[in-house]
Amino acid sequence: MEVFDAIHGRRSVRKYKSDSVPEEVLMKVLDAGRWAPSWANSQCWRFIVVKDAETKRRLSETLTPRNPATDATANAPVVLAVCAKPGLAGIKAGQPVTDKGAWWYMFDVALAVENLCLAAYALGLGTVIVGAFNHGEAKRILKIPGDIEIVALIPLGYPAEAPQATVRKEIGEITYADSYGKPYKS
Ligand SMILES: Cc1cc2nc3c(=O)[nH]c(=O)nc-3n(C[C@H](O)[C@H](O)[C@H](O)COP(=O)(O)O)c2cc1C
Repeated sequence: MEVFDAIHGRRSVRKYKSDSVPEEVLMKVLDAGRWAPSWANSQCWRFIVVKDAETKRRLSETLTPRNPATDATANAPVVLAVCAKPGLAGIKAGQPVTDKGAWWYMFDVALAVENLCLAAYALGLGTVIVGAFNHGEAKRILKIPGDIEIVALIPLGYPAEAPQATVRKEIGEITYADSYGKPYKS
């Protein structure tokens, strides 16, 4: 699949078939994640592949009230819990390199997440990135050590829905010329 087809065609999927995801397909998705760029190639991301039905159900209960991805988290054949080891991205010799401090781990994890989601789409799978959940509770459920953060949950499986395309701002609304605020005219 062409990269632009994947970028334009990927949608958040919140209904999944019960079909399991073959291991070799799952490995391709994870491989796409690990090939993301990262701060000084520090690769702070860590992934937990959750297939256990009871664990998925408990994770789904950590989502914010009325979160539209709640059923997807309980019912998708796989939920990827995307974690990060802080202290690598944005940090040199124990000191922050920029005024963003250690938060660059969020940036690096997001790059891996988008790689995962685009690769999954190219392989016929659906995903939805879930950020609105009780991170502390999810950490406890997944036995994540204190020095590791959990960032996102990604239900993954074969789609049982074909969501409508979502809208995006026009390039002219989000792009400036030479300095902030000056309209960019192509
Ligand atoms: C950081 C992040 C957190 C998100 N959290 C949730 C969530 O908690 N629940 C949910 O249903 N969708 C969540 N989404 C999915 C967005 O709602 C979705 O990407 C957006 O509406 C655009 O739709 P599309 O992915 O189909 O293009 C999240 C997306 C991102 C990038």
